[in-house]
Amino acid sequence: MRKILIAGNWKMHKSIPETLELLSLLAGKVGAASPAEVVVAPPFTALSAAGKLLSGTSILLAAQNMSQNPEGAFTGEISAAMLMDAGCQWVILGHSERRSLYDETNGVICQKIKVALENGLKVIFCLGETASQRAGGKTQDVVRGQMELGLRNLDVGLLASLVIAYEPVWAIGTGKNATPHQAQEVHRFIRSELEKKYGSEFAESTRIIYGGSVTSENFQNLSLEPDIDGALVGGASLDADSFYDIITSVT
Ligand code: 13P
Repeated sequence: MRKILIAGNWKMHKSIPETLELLSLLAGKVGAASPAEVVVAPPFTALSAAGKLLSGTSILLAAQNMSQNPEGAFTGEISAAMLMDAGCQWVILGHSERRSLYDETNGVICQKIKVALENGLKVIFCLGETASQRAGGKTQDVVRGQMELGLRNLDVGLLASLVIAYEPVWAIGTGKNATPHQAQEVHRFIRSELEKKYGSEFAESTRIIYGGSVTSENFQNLSLEPDIDGALVGGASLDADSFYDIITSVT
């Protein structure tokens, strides 16, 4: 049985006081024991304060990116150990905005995934096709390629803390979510690829979450699909009520 995971990717939003305000409200709503696993990813500057506020709650903390290097002369970069020091248990890697705006390659994403998992961080590994790739019938090829290269040479033992987020690029921030049928088709495909590579036990236990214009209204139907195990939420995670509505829409 896979536990539903609802994660909020705040992107470049919220000051430290705004972060604390939102998280106080959210922690009050979620309470000590949520049936869904709840993860929030504020910006780097607010992680440490968020980590302190969330300690002792059931809400877990994620970073939105991480260096593939452990330490050293890498101006502007942040390591896995630094994220853990700030209170993170999770990190989001391979987001399409990192891929398209900052030229993150599958190879770099793979290195980051390896370093994160080796350091004890859990990983939300994002992948998904663009509108033109979908229109050209390339969705499965793109997703398969991102999986193969992003997880290349990683030991299956290391991947127990991996979650895959299917985020079709055309659905991110557009208000145009994938239909339950479209999302389920790709989630099923991802699971079948996991099965081919790592076996059925691994494939059945790995969570595959959906991201792209998720709201409580559309997620209710998306979550009914057998291979959709949660959501990676952008815009709707910036407000305690709308994020909490998504959490409760499935529990
Ligand atoms: P939106 O929910 O704003 O479309 O963003 C999705 C996303 O990119 C989450 O990582």
